[in-house]
Amino acid sequence: MRRPFIAGNWKMNMDRAGAVALVEGLKEAAKDVDYADIAVCPPFVYLDAVAQVLKGTNIGVGAQDCYFEEKGAFTGEISVAMLKDVGCQYVILGHSERRHIIGESNELTNKKLLAVLKAGLTPILCIGEMLEQREADQTFDINAEQFLGSLAGVSAEDMKKVVIAYEPVWAIGTGKTATPEMAEEVHAGIRRLIEFRFNKEVADAVRIQYGGSMKPGNAKDLLAQADIDGGLIGGAALKVDDFMGIIEAAK
Ligand code: 13P
Repeated sequence: MRRPFIAGNWKMNMDRAGAVALVEGLKEAAKDVDYADIAVCPPFVYLDAVAQVLKGTNIGVGAQDCYFEEKGAFTGEISVAMLKDVGCQYVILGHSERRHIIGESNELTNKKLLAVLKAGLTPILCIGEMLEQREADQTFDINAEQFLGSLAGVSAEDMKKVVIAYEPVWAIGTGKTATPEMAEEVHAGIRRLIEFRFNKEVADAVRIQYGGSMKPGNAKDLLAQADIDGGLIGGAALKVDDFMGIIEAAK
């Protein structure tokens, strides 16, 4: 049985006071949750403040990205060691907004993922097709290409530590959720791909989150699917009650 993992991706939202208030509320509301892993991923500049509030609680902290080099002349970038230093355990990588707005490739995502694993943090690797790709029947090919490209050179032992987030781009922030059946079809396909690329033991161990307009109202049906092991939540992670509603749906 894979332990559910619910993570909030705050994206470029919040100010410092709002970030601290949100995690103060969440810390209290989620203090008895023992059936799932929980994490929040604030913008870089609020990681330190958020991690201090969450120290010693059952809520982990993640970053939304990182750079793969250890140190040096890389203006504007943040290393994995810096993230670790402020208390991060997770790093989101290959989010569709980074792939499609910033233009990040599988190769760059792969370098970052290897750096995160090397530092002993947990990567949350996002993959997902765009609407026109789904309509052109390329859903499996696109997800497989992103999966294989982003995970080049990863050992079976390391793969067990990776979390995959399937985020159909057309469902992100649009209010359009994949139906539980649509999501499960892709999740099951990703699990077969993990078995093909690694082995069955790894495929059974890896957690695959769903992301894309997950809300308290649809979370239960999504999380009830055999291969959906959690959620990566955008909009609904910005309010304690909504995020808690999703966490409780994982019970
Ligand atoms: P929404 O939940 O706002 O659709 O965002 C999903 C997402 O991109 C999480 O990484």
